[in-house]
Amino acid sequence: MNKILLGILAALGLGATTGTIVIASGVIDVGADTPHSPAVFQVLNYAREQSIARNAADIKVPDTLNDPERVRRGAGNYNAMCVNCHLAPEFPDSEIRQGLYPKPPNLSLMPDSPLELSASRWFWVIKHGIKASGMPAWSKGGMDDEAIWDLVALLQKMPALSNADYERLVAASEGHSHGGLEARTHGDGDQQEMPLPVVTAKTPDSSKGHNHDHGAHVHGKHKH
Ligand code: HEC
Repeated sequence: MNKILLGILAALGLGATTGTIVIASGVIDVGADTPHSPAVFQVLNYAREQSIARNAADIKVPDTLNDPERVRRGAGNYNAMCVNCHLAPEFPDSEIRQGLYPKPPNLSLMPDSPLELSASRWFWVIKHGIKASGMPAWSKGGMDDEAIWDLVALLQKMPALSNADYERLVAASEGHSHGGLEARTHGDGDQQEMPLPVVTAKTPDSSKGHNHDHGAHVHGKHKH
């Protein structure tokens, strides 16, 4: 019995030491342009789905999600804060979306799960974000729950909208106008930030704005 226990402890110790050596050697590629191995991807995907399902289980969805006012308000905020990463009906892919890993889902397309199941899931994800993915916790920026439900109301309608419908909703909205904006602070708060390496300061050349070579990239629908 003791030998078995010692064997297990030795194996665990060896595993932990090997893991530490691998991490310390720097061979783990953190570049966003190198995908995870299929095994790591599946583990992370599973962990994310389990966590969202557990956290969203008790969220009560308001019965006002079909209210056109919610959808209109949601469109203004979505267009200001989300469209670059998540696109909108008939939008071309964006530069930031192509470079992010994981790639943000195109929220103008029908989700895999039924819409009514997606509502609480979306609310939770928008409010809390998803670690190390690029999806922000919008509540940290000051967005209140009602504004988040407005966004969910828009997301539920978006797959059925044409580009013209979407543009009309945005034009009819007050743009970036959710409650909570006035409470925003400019300090670093309690966020844990990745420490930046020390670099030598360089004087920037006179900037010519967004002017790099895009190759085949299409800018048709950009309107910021
Ligand atoms: C900088 C890019 C970025 C911005 C801006 C952004 N998101 Fe995301 N979002 C992501 C990424 C990346 C994911 C996927 C994360 C993952 O799967 O681990 C995601 C996931 C989501 C999901 C989950 C979809 C699902 O069912 O799995 C929702 C909903 C969502 N975002 C809504 C929004 C809304 C609404 C806004 C604007 C208020 C927004 N996002 C702004 C990057 C972004």
